[in-house]
Amino acid sequence: MFSLLPYNTFGLDVKAWQGRLICSAADLRQQIQEPYLILGRGSDVLFTDDFDGTVLVSNIKGVQIKQQGHCYKVRAGAGEILDELIVRLLDQGITGLENLSAIPGTVGAAPIQNIGAYGVEIGDFIESIEVCDLQSGEIFVMQRSECCFGYRDSYFKQHRERRLFVLYVNFSFEDIYTPRLSYKGLQEMDLKDARAVRSQVLALRSRKLPDPRFVGNAGSFFKNPLVDEKKLEALRAEYPDLPVFTAGAGLYKLAAGWLIDKSGCRGITHGQAGTWEHQALVLVNRGQARPHELVSLGKYICAQVEHKFGISLQPEVRLYGRQGEVAWDSL
Ligand code: FAD
Ligand code: EPU
Repeated sequence: MFSLLPYNTFGLDVKAWQGRLICSAADLRQQIQEPYLILGRGSDVLFTDDFDGTVLVSNIKGVQIKQQGHCYKVRAGAGEILDELIVRLLDQGITGLENLSAIPGTVGAAPIQNIGAYGVEIGDFIESIEVCDLQSGEIFVMQRSECCFGYRDSYFKQHRERRLFVLYVNFSFEDIYTPRLSYKGLQEMDLKDARAVRSQVLALRSRKLPDPRFVGNAGSFFKNPLVDEKKLEALRAEYPDLPVFTAGAGLYKLAAGWLIDKSGCRGITHGQAGTWEHQALVLVNRGQARPHELVSLGKYICAQVEHKFGISLQPEVRLYGRQGEVAWDSL
C-alpha cells in the first residue's frame, strides 16, 4: 500500500494500491494498469476514500532559461515546485508570476485548472506544454491556443477522458516589468517592484488562507459562480453589498466565500471538518477529519447557499474515490 498522507494537503490518512514516482518521460513507457491517477502535491484534491489503483507522482525536474529578443523563455519540469520557480525567476529579474506567489503545488498542475490569484492567471504566460498521452504513449506539444484556458478551466479539465501527463511547461516573459495591481488589496499600496508585490501577496494570503502544514485544506473548495444579468439584478435588489466581478459574455462572477459566509457557514464545524474562520470558501481538516466529513460538510454548504441564494456551487477541488475521479453530484 502507498500512503497518500504526504500527497494531499487536506492531510487525510488515505492510501493507494501503489505509487510510482515519474522523474522522466521514460518512466511512463512501462504499461500502466487501470485505474491510475496523476498527482502533483495534492493541494487541489479531496480523496473521498482509499484509491484502489496506481498514483503517478509528477516529479520531473529541471529549469532552463534563455533570453530571446525582448523575452525570457523558460522551460520547467512538471515536478518543480511553482513557488520555488517564482523565487528563482525573481532572483534573475524575470517578472510576471509574482501575483501567483505562494500557491502550493507543482508547475505541471498549474495549467490543469489555470491557477489564478490577485488578477493574474498562469495561462497568460504559457507558450506551450509538452505532454505524454498515457493511452497511446505519444509525446507532443500543445500550443497555448489549444489549451483553452478559462477561469479555473483548461482543455485538460474539459477532456478528462484523454489522459495527458504534463511533462514540461514552456513560459514566455517580457523583459520589462508590468505591474498587475487590479486586485483590491494591491491597488491602494505603493508597490515599487515585483518583489514588493510578492511580499504583499504573501501578507494577504497569510491573513486569509490557512497554511496546509498546520491546518489541512485545499484552498478554495468551490469555484466562484457565474450568473447572468437577470440573476445578478434580482440578487442585488435584495443584497446591495453583494461583491460582483465582470466575467465577460454578459456574465458576472460572484464571491462564493461571501455567499457561504452570508449563509451562516463561516467557521462552522462538522465532526473534524470545518470552514476557515477568515475565509469561508476554504474547507479545513480540524485534526483527524475523515473524507466523508468533508464531503458532507461541502454538501451542507451547497444546500444552504442554494436555499438562500438559488445558486448551485460547484467544487474547484478534484474528487477521487476508489476507482478514480468522482463527480460531485454523484456523491
Ligand atoms: P494536485 O492537487 O496534485 O493535482 C491537481 C490536478 O492536476 C489533479 O487532477 C491531477 O491529476 C492534475 N495533475 C497534477 N500534475 C499533473 C501532471 N503533471 N499532468 C497532468 N495532470 C496533472 N489555486 C489557485 O488557482 N489559486 C490560488 O490562489 C490557490 N491557493 C491555494 C491555497 C492553498 C492554501 C491551497 C492548499 C491550495 C490553493 N490552490 C490555489 C489550489 C492548488 O494549489 C492549485 O490547484 C495547484 O496547481 C495544485 O498543484 P498540485 O501539484 O498540488 O496538484
Ligand atoms: N468574503 C466574505 N467572507 C468570506 C470570504 C470572502 O465576505 O468568508 C468576501 C471578501 O470580503 C471579498 C470576496 O468575498 O469581498 C472575495 O474574497 P477573496 O478576495 O478572498 O477571494 P475569493 O474570490 O474568495 C479567489 C480565488 C482564490 C484566490 C483569491 C485571490 C477562487 C475560487 N478563489 O478567492 O484562489 O487566491 O481569489 O485572487 O477563484 C484557490 O483557487 O484555491 C484560491 C485560494
